[in-house]
Order: sequence, then structure tokens, then C-alpha cells
Amino acid sequence: MKLGSLELSSPFILAPMESVSDCAYRRVCWDRGASLTWTEMIRARGLTRNNKSTFDLIDTFDPEVLTGVQLMVTNEKELIEALGKLEGSTQAHFKNIRAIDLNFGCPSPEIIRIGAGPALLKRKGKLETIFRALGEWKKSTTLPIGAVGVKIRLGLNRVEQEQKVYLPLVELANEHVDYLVIHARHARQGSSEKPTWSAIAEAKQRARIPLIGNGDIVTREDWERLSRETGADGALIARGAIRSPWVFRGLKGLGSGTPTSMEEIDAAETQYLSLATQYATKPKFLEWHREGFNRMRARFKGEAEKDSGVPANEHMS
Ligand SMILES: Cc1cc2nc3c(=O)[nH]c(=O)nc-3n(C[C@H](O)[C@H](O)[C@H](O)COP(=O)(O)O)c2cc1C
Repeated sequence: MKLGSLELSSPFILAPMESVSDCAYRRVCWDRGASLTWTEMIRARGLTRNNKSTFDLIDTFDPEVLTGVQLMVTNEKELIEALGKLEGSTQAHFKNIRAIDLNFGCPSPEIIRIGAGPALLKRKGKLETIFRALGEWKKSTTLPIGAVGVKIRLGLNRVEQEQKVYLPLVELANEHVDYLVIHARHARQGSSEKPTWSAIAEAKQRARIPLIGNGDIVTREDWERLSRETGADGALIARGAIRSPWVFRGLKGLGSGTPTSMEEIDAAETQYLSLATQYATKPKFLEWHREGFNRMRARFKGEAEKDSGVPANEHMS
């Protein structure tokens, strides 16, 4: 799949995830088959106000892992100013930023209150100004940006989803950016609620740029069904990659989407911790991932016990 000028080795992309998708974990997923990765959502306002902790979240230290920065913006002026900060920065690793994504899906009340994220989905005129500004910026930036795009939900709420506010945005995306990601839920829906993949299919009918589906895609079977039912060009994977960075191996049909041994989990954790130390990763990420690897071990042990009917440690002895 090609997004803008970025050639991706597979259609399976690691999602932007707050407190999860740090540089070290992105490498762990990349080595296991993710073809593109994202930083967590970065508040453009933090960049325009020169907030150091916002800049620190842009941890694009690894030039081999194709990585984009996801921004949350309230208007085009703020977007251009924030992009200018990235461009003008003396931080050498910002030269590894290969894509920019705008988040119009974050359901946080704090974001919606300031009229950003999914609160903008029905404001077609304002979104067009933002999309256009992003597309124009890409043409002249000095950063090696291969693709710019947007991630949307189906609306702020059920009413907006029923009004299909997402459909006109496909036309806007066609005009101004390189790809569109659709998280097939509205912003009031939790992750346990079933996504409406049929909306991805409707959008695909109108898309002239690659359309990436998102929501409950974990297994090869999920991908085949998404592809068949919607025609989506790719899939963005979030919780599946928290549960198991091997999810990408499974999606590619190259083996199990879950770990196949304790040694595999131990090696992935060692890789993560060593890189996280190298990158001076913030403790919030380390804690999250340590727990994550422990949960993987517990699940693997449970599965092994279920398979043999014998507790894993007794089985081994
Ligand atoms: C822990 C966590 C953090 C997230 N942070 C972000 C974020 O920073 N930006 C974003 O666009 N979506 C974020 N999301 C949403 C995911 O990118 C994705 O849209 C959603 O989880 C649905 O995909 P899934 O069914 O594969 O989990 C986050 C999701 C999770 C679970």
C-alpha cells in the first residue's frame, strides 16, 4: 500500500495511542510486522506555546521505523504554527518525522469542550480550511514528509452518525490529503461497542485516496472480512497491539498473532526495556508496558494450561 509517497510493506499500521505508542514500543511492533507507526496524539497548542513536555512526546529517535506525528488542532492557524515549530526545531530526530496525521476522533471531554476533535466533524467549512492548510504545507515543508492525512470517527454522537457527517469529509480528504482513517464508532461509543464497518464501506465508495479502517481488527480473519465487506485499503490496529505486538505477524498470515512461547515474550520485553532505557522513555510508558508484558505472560500460561489440561509449570517439569 502507498500513502502519499510512502511505500508500506503491508496494510497493517500501528495506531497512535496515548501512553502506549512510545518509540521503543513502536520498534517492537515494527520488528513484528507493523508497516507504519504513529506517536501518541500531540496537542498543537502545546507546541505553539513551546511547552517542553509536549515536545518531549515527539520521540522519533529511530530513523528505521516509519513514524508519523499525530496532532490535535483547533484551527488552521494553530496547525500551521505548530508545524512551523516542528520544522524550525533544532532537534535532529524531528528529521525522522515521515507523516502527519490530524486527530478528529479523541472523545475526551476536555477536547470536545474546546471545540476540537470530533466536535469539528460536522463543521465542514472549518475542516476544509484545516485539511487544505495541511495539504499546502506538505508541498513546501523542508521535513521529509511522505504523507499527510486525517483520522476521524463517524460523528460526535449517534445523531451525527445517522446524519452521516463523515461522508462529506471523504470528499474533502480526496481533495487535500493523502489518506483517511475511519474509526468506525461515534465519539460517545466505548471500545466495547461494535464498530459500524458498513460506514467504512460507504466511505470507500467515495474515496479516491487510500482508506484505512479501524475498530476491532485483530486477526487475519478480521482483516479478510474488513477487506471483503468494505474494500478498505489498510487497517489501523490499537488494542490488538497492546495485547500482543505479534498481532501484525498474524494479520500478515505469517504465523500466530499471539506469542508462541514464554521466551518470545521475554525477548520482546527485554528489547522494549533496553530501547526505552536508551531513549530515556518516560516512566508512564515503562509501567504500562511492564504490566502489559506481565499480562501477556499470564494469558500465555492460561492458554498453555487450557491446551494441555495441565498447569504450564508442571507440564514443563
Ligand atoms: C490506550 C489507548 C490510547 C489511545 N490514544 C489515542 C491517540 O493518542 N490518538 C488517537 O487517534 N487514538 C487513540 N486511541 C484510539 C485508537 O487509536 C483506536 O482508534 C481505537 O482504539 C480503536 O481501535 P482498536 O479497536 O484496534 O483498539 C487510543 C486507544 C487506546 C486503547
